[in-house]
Amino acid sequence: MTALTGQVALVTGAAQGLGRAFANRLHTEGCKIVAVDRREAVHDVVGLTYVADVRDPDTARTVVDGAVAKHGRIDILVNNAGVVSPTGPADDWQKGLDDYDEIVDTNLRGSFLFGRAAAAVMIENGGGNIVNIGTDHVFPLPGVDVHGHGAMDLYNASKWAINGLTLDWAISLKEHGIRVNAIHMGATDSEMLRTWMGDAITDEMVASWMSPDQTAEILVQLLSEGPTGRTGQNIGLWVGREPSISDSTHAGARLPG
Ligand SMILES: NC(=O)c1ccc[n+]([C@@H]2O[C@H](COP(=O)([O-])OP(=O)(O)OC[C@H]3O[C@@H](n4cnc5c(N)ncnc54)[C@H](O)[C@@H]3O)[C@@H](O)[C@H]2O)c1
Repeated sequence: MTALTGQVALVTGAAQGLGRAFANRLHTEGCKIVAVDRREAVHDVVGLTYVADVRDPDTARTVVDGAVAKHGRIDILVNNAGVVSPTGPADDWQKGLDDYDEIVDTNLRGSFLFGRAAAAVMIENGGGNIVNIGTDHVFPLPGVDVHGHGAMDLYNASKWAINGLTLDWAISLKEHGIRVNAIHMGATDSEMLRTWMGDAITDEMVASWMSPDQTAEILVQLLSEGPTGRTGQNIGLWVGREPSISDSTHAGARLPG
């Protein structure tokens, strides 16, 4: 038995990378997993799995309604599905529009859709946990200059905007026993990072990266705090520093009370 045994956990973007690590670790902790991804490999996750696009409102409804039909509740939502590609204000106009639909709609609209759909179920349950996945571009290592900027305006805008969801939901859902936090990790070994770095990757660089399992461990610690645990917080995980749940700050402002 663990603190999470029997809880129903919905993970978006669970076919690979961080999402796969979250789903696998939560399964190990005794959770019943519901997973969605637009890649077929999501079916390798043990649990109820869906191949679908998180940008689509019908996806959120289908997955959340399916989770409730099978398990009767949702206790945990991890809004992890995300995409990045090089973008900036000098881009071709149509490329910018297409990138917006791909990046902002996946990272932000997907989190909005799943958060809203799952929150309604959690309110009925009388509690739950929502964890949004950000980036260290939003919450950099204290004392270090912001980085990851100047080449990905849409990715950064989408991740900054998630702060608004984290803070606002933490406040409005507190009375329902629902905690809402975000994890902002730095470079973590995944297909996303390897594709982004391309030919610039070196063995030394890869050795410095964090692993998805390290973030999954912090996720479990966060969820295991129980109903009186932290809410409205951004948790930072940074390359070169031992990951710790105590590296956190309020998501934009102090919560009332
Ligand atoms: N890897 C890093 O260094 C790093 C750092 C900071 C934040 N993050 C964030 O962590 C999250 C996971 O990233 P990752 O590194 O594991 O990337 P990844 O590309 O390895 O995995 C992302 C998963 O999300 C899925 N996905 C993307 N768009 C989708 C959509 N519209 N609908 C359904 N599924 C979709 C992909 O198919 C993929 O399986 C992302 O939100 C990312 O922004 C990653």
